[in-house]
Amino acid sequence: MSPLEHSEPTAAPETVRRAVQRDYERFAVSGLPEPLEQYLLDEYDLDMTAEYAGFTLKNPWGKASGQLSMTARQVEEDVAAGLSFVVLKTVIAQDEHGEQSMAAWAIPEARMVAEPIVGQSGEHGWTITWKGRGWWQSFEAYLQLIRDARRIADGTGTLIVPSCKYHLPSPSEPDWRRGEYDYTTRRLLEAWQPGGNPMPLEKDFSPTLAGSDRSAVQAKILEWLRVVPKLMRESARTSGLGEVCVGLKMFNALFDDGFQVEMLNAIHNAGADRPDFFVYANRLFDPQREFDGQRGVAFGGPDLSDRNLRVLDQWRTHSAGASALPWSATGNITTGRMAVEYLCRGATSFQLHTFFQLPADQYAMKVGNRTQRALHELHFHPQTGLIVWLHHLANESGRSGRPIRLLDIATNPMR
Ligand SMILES: Cc1cc2nc3c(=O)[nH]c(=O)nc-3n(C[C@H](O)[C@H](O)[C@H](O)COP(=O)(O)O)c2cc1C
Repeated sequence: MSPLEHSEPTAAPETVRRAVQRDYERFAVSGLPEPLEQYLLDEYDLDMTAEYAGFTLKNPWGKASGQLSMTARQVEEDVAAGLSFVVLKTVIAQDEHGEQSMAAWAIPEARMVAEPIVGQSGEHGWTITWKGRGWWQSFEAYLQLIRDARRIADGTGTLIVPSCKYHLPSPSEPDWRRGEYDYTTRRLLEAWQPGGNPMPLEKDFSPTLAGSDRSAVQAKILEWLRVVPKLMRESARTSGLGEVCVGLKMFNALFDDGFQVEMLNAIHNAGADRPDFFVYANRLFDPQREFDGQRGVAFGGPDLSDRNLRVLDQWRTHSAGASALPWSATGNITTGRMAVEYLCRGATSFQLHTFFQLPADQYAMKVGNRTQRALHELHFHPQTGLIVWLHHLANESGRSGRPIRLLDIATNPMR
C-alpha cells in the first residue's frame, strides 16, 4: 500500500511542473543554486528543514555509511555539495589490547561494481556488489578521520556521524565483550571532542548467525537490540567524556516480515534502554549468490525498498500508536518520489549510498561532483523529483498551508 497512489505527480500544479522542467535543464548546465534550501523555499514554497537523531538539519539528505565516506576528501565533497549529514564508514570495535571479535568484518574491498538489478515486481534499479565489509585500516586512522571530518564540517551545518560494529554474542556465547564497548566508545568520544552535543553514533548490525537454529537466532537478535544501547551508554558514562546519542541501524534478517516487525517492537518496548533513534533498513542478503568466489552477498534495489516500506506499513498498523522513536530512512532511495514514500511513513531524513555511486551517464547534470549531480536528480527531475512529488502530495492530501514543511509530513504521516 503506497500513500502515493499515482505513478505520475499529476496533482502538482502546472506552474510548478513547468518551473521544475526549466530548472532541471538549466541547473544541469550551470550547477545547483546556493544555498539550495533558500531557493526551494523562495521558488517552490518548500521548507526542507529535517531532523536526524533529534538534531535539526538544513535538509534531509545524508550520505549513508560505506565506501563513500572513508576519506577526508570524500567528506569535503559532500560538505561542499550541501549534504546535511555524513555517516562515516563503520569501524570494527576493539578492546584495549586491539582484539576485535568482529574481525571478520575488517576485510579490504577487493572489487566493487554498480550493477543494474530488476526487483521481483519487475522494477529496474541499481545495486552495488562487492566483497569488503567494515573499516580495514587502523583504528587510529579512523579516529583521525573523525577529527578531520569534524574540522571540515565545522560551521557548515553538516553533521558528522561515526558508525561502529561492536561485539554481538552468538546464541552459544553467554557473555558480551564489554571491553570492546568501553575502549572503542571512549576513543570515539575522545576524537569527537570538543563535544557540545552528545555524539550521534550509529551501531551497524549484521546477520551473522548462520548455522544456529532459527528460534535461538531470533531470540538472540532481539536480545542484541535490547542490550546494545545500554552498553553503549554505560561505556560513554564511564569514559567521563560525554554522552552518545545511540542509533541502531536495523538490518533485514533472513526471516519473514513478521520478524522485522518484532525487531521494531523490541527497540520501542525496551523502556529506558530504547535507542535514541534508528535507521531503517540496511540491505537484503542472498546466501546463494556468488561474487568473486564468495558465496552470500548483500544487495539492494527495488526489492529492498519494497520490503522496507511493506514492513514499516505493517509495523505502523500493529504498533497501536506506541510513541515512535525518530528515524532515518535508508534503502533504494534513488528518486525524490522514493524519499517521499519513506517520509510518509515518518522518516525525518534520508541516507543514501547506491545513488551516489552510479555511472556518470546516469545523471543529467554534467558539472559538479557526484553528490551534487545526484541532488540535482533527486530534487529537480520532472517526473520523479522531490519538488513535484511534495506538491503532488500536498494537493492530494488537502494541505493548503504554505510553505509545505517536510517535517509536518513526517510527523503527521498518512496511512
Ligand atoms: C559498498 C557498500 C558499503 C557499505 N558499507 C556499510 C557500512 O560499512 N556500514 C553500514 O552501516 N552500512 C553500509 N552499507 C549500507 C549503506 O549504508 C546503506 O544503508 C544501504 O546500502 C542502503 O542504501 P542504498 O540503497 O542507498 O545503497 C554499505 C553499502 C554499500 C553498497
